[in-house]
Amino acid sequence: MSDQTRDTYEQLALRLAAANRVCVLTGAGVSRESGVPTFREADGLWNKYRPEELANVDAFLRNPELVWEWYSWRRELIGEVSPNPGHYALAEIEQRVPQFTLATQNVDNLHRAAGSVNVVELHGNIMRNKCQKCGVVFKEGDPENEFVFEKGTLPVCACGKKGLLRPDIVWFGEMLPEDAIQQAWEEAGQADVFLSVGTSTVVYPAAALPFTAKQAGAYLVEINPNPTELTPLADLVFSEPSGEALPKVVAKLRELQA
Ligand code: APR
Repeated sequence: MSDQTRDTYEQLALRLAAANRVCVLTGAGVSRESGVPTFREADGLWNKYRPEELANVDAFLRNPELVWEWYSWRRELIGEVSPNPGHYALAEIEQRVPQFTLATQNVDNLHRAAGSVNVVELHGNIMRNKCQKCGVVFKEGDPENEFVFEKGTLPVCACGKKGLLRPDIVWFGEMLPEDAIQQAWEEAGQADVFLSVGTSTVVYPAAALPFTAKQAGAYLVEINPNPTELTPLADLVFSEPSGEALPKVVAKLRELQA
């Protein structure tokens, strides 16, 4: 059968079944069906709050209590949501291809919660804290990560510099973790198939990854109900929610690999 007669889910499943290296970039859209708001849609976070006031280090140093209050609200919201079928489908694809890298812009930890293993956190992880002064990032289970915000309380690091603790999130104007972006670049440049899922593809350097993959010869797929800068370049576009498209692709992949 030619590609014209196969549905797009089967076309992608065939590409994944034949691929050696698969790389994925996800954005807030992949968590939308879990109930986590995106940033730039009509009901997105940046329409309710000003990123300049909340998601940058100057805002934090100017008003750490306001920033902690906002991130504690987001952390609480994320603590109550679960991965959706799109997250689980990506975790299953990882198990079904030889080499798989999932670079995410999301800080909600839902890919790991769904079982994804090789997750590259480009923008950090809201469940972790770090010291604004000495830069140490606290690991899961460290008491510094157990901080619960209350008005008038601000967590301070035990380092000699008395730095304030802050969420381990990359804020506007800050560099991404060097090892994370390096790994994502390398994998994007070697991918046979690159999936861009649930991102508006406007925030760099993460947004450059799908373009880099395409230039390096990857088969480029976009999954997003709305068009983006990337759409005209994609070899295959699923203009639908990732929680609906990805499970259909996995169903076809299971048939092919049965
Ligand atoms: N499935 C797939 N995509 C979806 C879904 C869905 N169910 N719902 C919405 N989308 C798409 C929207 O069409 C939009 O293009 O998800 C995208 C979300 O875009 P943004 O809100 O801009 O989020 P993102 O691309 O992740 O933003 C990148 O910007 O604010 C910074 O650091 C923050 O990591 C974030 C970065």
